[in-house]
Amino acid sequence: MSADTALPARRPDEPASPPAPRLDRAAIEEVLASGRRLLVQGAMGINASDGLSGKVAAVRTRRLLGVGTISAVLKTPAMLAAEIRRAKREAPGGFVGVNLMAAIHKQDFEALARTAFAEGASFLVQGAGISREIVKWCRAAGIPFVGIVSSGRLAAMYEKWGAEWLVAEGAEAGGHIGDIGHPLLQLLDEVKAATSLPVVAAGGIEAHDLPTVFAHGAAGAQLATRFLASRDGDVHPNFKDMHLRRGNPDVTLITSCVKGMKARAVKNAFTDALAAGKHFPPRSKTWFFGPEGYMGRTKDCIECLGDGLCLCRESDFQESFCITDALLEAAVHGDVERGLFYTGQSVTGIEETDVGRLPTVAEIFEDFERAIGGTAVEGPGARAADLDIAARFL
Ligand SMILES: Cc1cc2nc3c(=O)[nH]c(=O)nc-3n(C[C@H](O)[C@H](O)[C@H](O)COP(=O)(O)O)c2cc1C
Repeated sequence: MSADTALPARRPDEPASPPAPRLDRAAIEEVLASGRRLLVQGAMGINASDGLSGKVAAVRTRRLLGVGTISAVLKTPAMLAAEIRRAKREAPGGFVGVNLMAAIHKQDFEALARTAFAEGASFLVQGAGISREIVKWCRAAGIPFVGIVSSGRLAAMYEKWGAEWLVAEGAEAGGHIGDIGHPLLQLLDEVKAATSLPVVAAGGIEAHDLPTVFAHGAAGAQLATRFLASRDGDVHPNFKDMHLRRGNPDVTLITSCVKGMKARAVKNAFTDALAAGKHFPPRSKTWFFGPEGYMGRTKDCIECLGDGLCLCRESDFQESFCITDALLEAAVHGDVERGLFYTGQSVTGIEETDVGRLPTVAEIFEDFERAIGGTAVEGPGARAADLDIAARFL
């Protein structure tokens, strides 16, 4: 890592907080031995999962242990540090990880990894792209590395590199999809056969699917879409509303500017325009990042992605679209016409219809617990005892 990447200054009124407990292979084995599975909240880029990670990491039920994941996408180091500290405050002794995408600008990748390490994340999980360097950095920092995989081959490679656990993400997932030909249960069996690491299943999982993915040997389940439609979470209310009352015709696959990967989104005027071949070059980002730009970059294209990975930049802005503009319009402005609203296939199973009457994260967990035959979320006394499970890993 470059030595000149400055870490964010801690505000004088903000005391240093202890690191979150490490979520490594041994910790997961201990959780499983206690009769629980992991229920991981998948990271969602820009601010779509902000405000959720601490709420999820604070929940313990008889059968499930909540794990939060913070997205580092389009955060400055100061923004990422603030979100990690917030989650740790909301879930003392809980597991709070950070998701870092290897496809982002290399300078940002390094700065954000350093921040996750310095702030004591429980783990670092890598999506969209592969970087071996980060596995080495994690080992040096003593932070468990987690890989998101879409094949058994990649799972075996990550195990060799030193990953502590894996997320097998099937084609039903939201946002960028590793392999659209690989549905979750098929992938899960393939990954389980290729590695001895604990595997968390992700992609299109609804509460009633939990017994099935656990029966296929998953150490836990990762869900993101269900948590979007929650009373908790900072994302724009229109983003939450776009996740209500949706059937199969409302869900579409687009070709993302990120390496031309397929991505799942709620169908709207923006995805229709993309399908019709319209392109959307970047506009000024000062409306969000201010006159200083993003990480000191002030051009319309803030080069959010690494060299050679953005179809928009590679085509000299003549093709594709600016993903930063489109995601900011959705998650921050809540513009239902111009925004890109990533979603998972499970959006069609969300039963609530009114954005003013969404369940809290804790209430969503009650549904999960009931679906696996447990009782409701335990009371405050029992919860304190359960917190010891996480605290022991400090
Ligand atoms: C709006 C949205 C944004 C996402 N952003 C990211 C991301 O930045 N990095 C990542 O690794 N996965 C991202 N994902 C994938 C989720 O973390 C999750 O693994 C996947 O959607 C499977 O869960 P689900 O089917 O319940 O949505 C995103 C998903 C959604 C719906």
